[in-house]
Amino acid sequence: MSPKPDVASTQWAENYSEYAAWLQRGSACRANAFTVQAGTGVPEFAVQECREGLRRLCADEGAGADNTPLCLRLNMALPPEGYRLKSDTGRCVTLEGADANGLLYGIYAFLLRLAAGANLEQLDEASAPAARYRVVNHWDRVDGVVERGYAGKSIFFRENTLVYEPKRIRDYARLLASVGINGISINNMNVTLESARLISDEQLPLVAKLAGIFRDFGIRVALAVGFESPAVLGGLCMEKPLDASIADWWAQRANAIYSHIPDFLGFVVKADSEFQSGPSAMGISQAEGANLLARALAPHGGLVFWRCFIYDCLQDWRDTQTDRPMAAYDLFKSLDGQFEPNVILQIKNGPSDFQVREPNSPLFGAMPGTSQGLELQITQEYTGQQIDLYGLAVHWEEVLAAPGHAPGQLRNLIGGAIQAVSAISNVGDDENWTGHTLAQANLFAFGRLAWNPALTANEIVREWAALSFGGAGGVAEEVAEMVLASRAVYEKYTTPMSLCWMVNINHHYGPSPEGYEFMKWGTYHRANWEAIGVDRSSRGTGYASQYAPQLAGVYDDIRTCPQEFLLYFHRVAYSHVLPDGRTLLQTMYDSHFEGVQAVEGFITAWEGLKPRLPVSVYASVHARLLRQLDNAREWRDVVNTYFYRKTGIADRQGRKIYP
Ligand code: GCU
Repeated sequence: MSPKPDVASTQWAENYSEYAAWLQRGSACRANAFTVQAGTGVPEFAVQECREGLRRLCADEGAGADNTPLCLRLNMALPPEGYRLKSDTGRCVTLEGADANGLLYGIYAFLLRLAAGANLEQLDEASAPAARYRVVNHWDRVDGVVERGYAGKSIFFRENTLVYEPKRIRDYARLLASVGINGISINNMNVTLESARLISDEQLPLVAKLAGIFRDFGIRVALAVGFESPAVLGGLCMEKPLDASIADWWAQRANAIYSHIPDFLGFVVKADSEFQSGPSAMGISQAEGANLLARALAPHGGLVFWRCFIYDCLQDWRDTQTDRPMAAYDLFKSLDGQFEPNVILQIKNGPSDFQVREPNSPLFGAMPGTSQGLELQITQEYTGQQIDLYGLAVHWEEVLAAPGHAPGQLRNLIGGAIQAVSAISNVGDDENWTGHTLAQANLFAFGRLAWNPALTANEIVREWAALSFGGAGGVAEEVAEMVLASRAVYEKYTTPMSLCWMVNINHHYGPSPEGYEFMKWGTYHRANWEAIGVDRSSRGTGYASQYAPQLAGVYDDIRTCPQEFLLYFHRVAYSHVLPDGRTLLQTMYDSHFEGVQAVEGFITAWEGLKPRLPVSVYASVHARLLRQLDNAREWRDVVNTYFYRKTGIADRQGRKIYP
């Protein structure tokens, strides 16, 4: 969608606010040419939201008598949450929604089209979500710190209490709903005693109040709970976790929750993972554990999002038999068909942990009798921490285009085997929500892709840029180019070819080639003087064999393994010659030099936009780009030196590598 703003760029700059993200004020004066007319059964909130949206776009109220009617109608024949927009040659625009959510999504779609300058005369569009559950997961601790958060503190919690600014939550809910998100979990899945109490009788009324704000926007609230809550909160003995007393405790909690929050979405559970207790530790299976909670929620229509991020986090680096990426498949695959229908197995896109690049988990599509969920990470833990620019739309487009268990694109499983798409939020209480203003594109892209995984990154990022910067005299196109290029650039100066785990330990920003090499986390690349990477082929750990045979064969053979996954599946000699004739080592060197140059290019491009951008956004992004350049240089020099010291082989182009 090309930006055709109908406001002058000076006026745009006056109205612009980083807080408004892609819902900028005053970006379409034409908005006052519509009068909202609501049909039977249309919720008052939808009408209000539509009127408010038009006012926002127009930044003035003046509705005239000859306005075009904008008719809101319910049409139950549409697919759930779907909408339809149709213009009757300028005489009226009809906006139909299947239900309350469908109406809201239709309204936002209409407002966004208007803001982006679309030709409304030709409006004829119908849409419905691919994934039934489109959820953001907050990793907010109740003390107010956001785990892996890079945009300030929690917008929900302070000092072990649920406290928030209602207006801010409403604005957040609107942002989420405007891109089709219909679920949110508000607390970290590493559950502490304090956060376990969110489901206590004392705290449920507070959660219910918050849920009421989200409900207006069609967003259901979920909570992360600990598996041992019956012991922690209820004082029960969990030695026999299948004892009726435990099931009763969960049933009673579920009753209490639903008496306060009738549309409660469900529980997010991290069990048997990174020191959280769980069913395996108590001698029962993952299915038995998940079902325990699921049976309590089922009568109320609730779900259990059961995370599959389970592995041995106390591995000995000397142990070359255990291979962390294999753990989830080994644990869950054989349990297919044993989970209650309201359990969704929530699986991280890759089998390691949100690395810059990994193959997709072999669990996707491997369990036909079980609902699955795709877990993505919007917060940039390993991808630059909202200091470095990193357009996740491109990253996710690649994830969605790659296969799961069997050949075929992951995106084709969404709406089928994959019922939910969840992602870890990148939002905090910073004024611009995401720390890096351009990281707003990632939240936008998540919603768009969960709704329609067939969209391209190019479409999504250009739409976001047009909505956010469309009034700034041609800036949108250039910003979109930067965001679209940024994923590849970051990969170049950090860990190309799925190298993984060269980050600094604990905080995960910046390079440390052997930071995780001798630790307990199962995260090794095992570089020596002649080769790097773990052999995960059939000759090595056998991880490749977790994929369906045809795909396993492709990954297994170094000649057919896609180059971007080379170091995930193979141990490769530095002297190995890649298809373009360069050695692995030379490719590593080149990649790191090129990555830094590209960041210098981003800075030049951004500086060129200075006269057309509001001072605040120019300055905040510029400051981050400068920090990104420092980071990129550090990565380049540390990684190149590391390989040079291992191999003694110089760069063929004679560029500076520190000895
Ligand atoms: C990563 C991340 C942790 C997080 C964990 C999870 O390991 O670094 O902060 O708790 O993933 O997804 O549970």
